[in-house]
Amino acid sequence: MGDDGTVPKERYVSRAFLDLEMERLWPRVWQVACREEELADVGDYVDYVIGDQSILVVRAAPDIIKAYFNTCLHRGTRLGEGCGSFAGGTIRCRYHGWCYDLEGRVTTIPDAHEFPAVPSDLRLGEVRAECWGGFVFVNMDDDAEPLLDFLDPLPSLLAPYHVDQMRFRSYRSTVLPANWKVVVDAFNESYHVQGTHPQILPWTDDVAIEYEQFGVHSHYGRLPNARRQLRPSPRLGLAEGEFDEWEILAGLVAGLGGAFLKEERELVEELRSASLPPGTNLLERYQERRMELLQSRGFDVSGLAKEQMTSADDVYWFPNMVGPIYPGSAILFRVRPNGLDPDSAIKDTWVLEWPRPGDGWRMPERKFYADWTEKDWGPITNQDYANMREVQVGMKSRGCRDLRLNSRQESNILHMHRVIDRYLT
Ligand code: FES
Ligand SMILES: [Fe+2]
Repeated sequence: MGDDGTVPKERYVSRAFLDLEMERLWPRVWQVACREEELADVGDYVDYVIGDQSILVVRAAPDIIKAYFNTCLHRGTRLGEGCGSFAGGTIRCRYHGWCYDLEGRVTTIPDAHEFPAVPSDLRLGEVRAECWGGFVFVNMDDDAEPLLDFLDPLPSLLAPYHVDQMRFRSYRSTVLPANWKVVVDAFNESYHVQGTHPQILPWTDDVAIEYEQFGVHSHYGRLPNARRQLRPSPRLGLAEGEFDEWEILAGLVAGLGGAFLKEERELVEELRSASLPPGTNLLERYQERRMELLQSRGFDVSGLAKEQMTSADDVYWFPNMVGPIYPGSAILFRVRPNGLDPDSAIKDTWVLEWPRPGDGWRMPERKFYADWTEKDWGPITNQDYANMREVQVGMKSRGCRDLRLNSRQESNILHMHRVIDRYLT
């Protein structure tokens, strides 16, 4: 990588680079394997797959989550696939019936006397598992730093959002025809808004978005010193009087869709018909009302500033999770290489939200789309996905050597590459 912001394309298109990541990045880095609520009962498991590796994450006791390499100690058969529950607390290999308890100890070896060399205290290979914010992270490296050191400063930045109290509203996965980093990058900058999503410029001041790197992670959005006004993108060149604050607020609230509840979208009309006195700051009024609404539902918004009521914090959790976090909800994209193919990625879209007090919560069905075009993901995401193949195919051209990153608006991407290099070298 050059100091001028150039990034060699091999990092995205070469199998050798993916192999290096599989050898030095993924086995050493903390990564989100699942959410704690997916492991509600003792014996519940999730099979976390990264590249050609598979890790079984298991609730071994009401307050203990364990992770193991997903491989039988006899002849290597995978012990669990997808998600489910180990009945009776026994992990039983389908092939010859070796059994393990939830702590990973071998409990049954049929005809054990014919394995004189197998020690009786044999255990499944353990992978480190630690939790924060309702997420279960795993790390295959016994010498890695503790999870909280790795995450710093995300836990303090995100504390007011109470992500630990969020639960899945939906879980959808799909395959995209691009390197996993192409997918992450598409959600780690707003520079492409003017090129790919011009329809949102009338209600998005994309130029005022700020970027900040911290530790191995980064984020972007309306960071503390950013302008907070109901303004269209300055790229449209509209003068005062040529746009309408109400329309911008309505566009913002409608455009962010899932982040706002129905009642919060209706607030725009309520405020409009209340005919606010001249000079009232519309944005502030909306923010105050939204905060009251969340409070009245019993949500703790005490740690959030008013400005956070109408803006997302788009967080990039190194190495492979990115997405906006709002008061009451989060849309998280977890991206993984699809097997050992540098040109294909699996993307999970996790919509999390604070369950409404009194509402029962149940894990929604996990849906999988083998091709992203099987589903309408909404206009903005469809535009993002449609770019992916073009990026991946285009980079392979003999005419492409390096990518050239914008020094401000693509600084999170450059930071990611630098952090990846710390693992690779
Ligand atoms: S491979 Fe698991 S019991 Fe034989
Ligand atoms: Fe986009």
